[in-house]
Amino acid sequence: MKFFVDTADVAEIRDLAATGMVDGVTTNPSLIAKSGRKFLDVLAEICSVVDGPVSAEVTATDFDGMMAEAARLLEVASNVAIKVPLTWDGLKTCKALSSKGTQVNVTLCFSPAQALLAAKAGAAFISPFVGRLDDISEDGMALIEDIRRIYDNYPGFTTEILVASIRHPLHVVQSAKIGADVATLPPAVLRQLALHPLTDKGLAAFLADWQKTGQSITAAT
Ligand code: E4P
Repeated sequence: MKFFVDTADVAEIRDLAATGMVDGVTTNPSLIAKSGRKFLDVLAEICSVVDGPVSAEVTATDFDGMMAEAARLLEVASNVAIKVPLTWDGLKTCKALSSKGTQVNVTLCFSPAQALLAAKAGAAFISPFVGRLDDISEDGMALIEDIRRIYDNYPGFTTEILVASIRHPLHVVQSAKIGADVATLPPAVLRQLALHPLTDKGLAAFLADWQKTGQSITAAT
């Protein structure tokens, strides 16, 4: 399973990339606004830190506008993936860009039918938002199961399931059990994945016992 980080905070991306766990980055207009920086500047910096796909979202809502914005975003770096919303104009843009070899991430997916359309449009990634479905008392993970089942029926589909709007580690584990291809994680959730109270407790006990021996592994004997 690939891990992307869902942020436009370059310091966080740099820090997490150093762990070797980061396969890509997703951004959206809200995350760019939160960064307080110019979109193209922050995008260029993120692309220089991470080799994998960096999703950059268009803000036009019509086909011509999306194509013009995509052209500008693609000039920034070779690892930019264009993110389009799941609308008819977004799907048309996806088809046009993916036919020319551009990676497209179709975002704001909330139903299996929408995911089917994105695959037919040649999307590299479909982004179903599990947390936002859970927020309205729907079952986000059931959507991931449905999309996995549908895509597996058609080996010609190459679209990867990129689980988005992740809120906690359980979402990541459930996505992995279902066989989702990618999870995009807020930095805090990625950090949480390594944590367990018994790990901390066990390590503290080992170190306390080790200290009693008075030994050092690296000091000369
Ligand atoms: C994905 O690409 C989106 O940027 C993101 O996962 C949205 O998450 P949110 O629902 O926490 O805003």
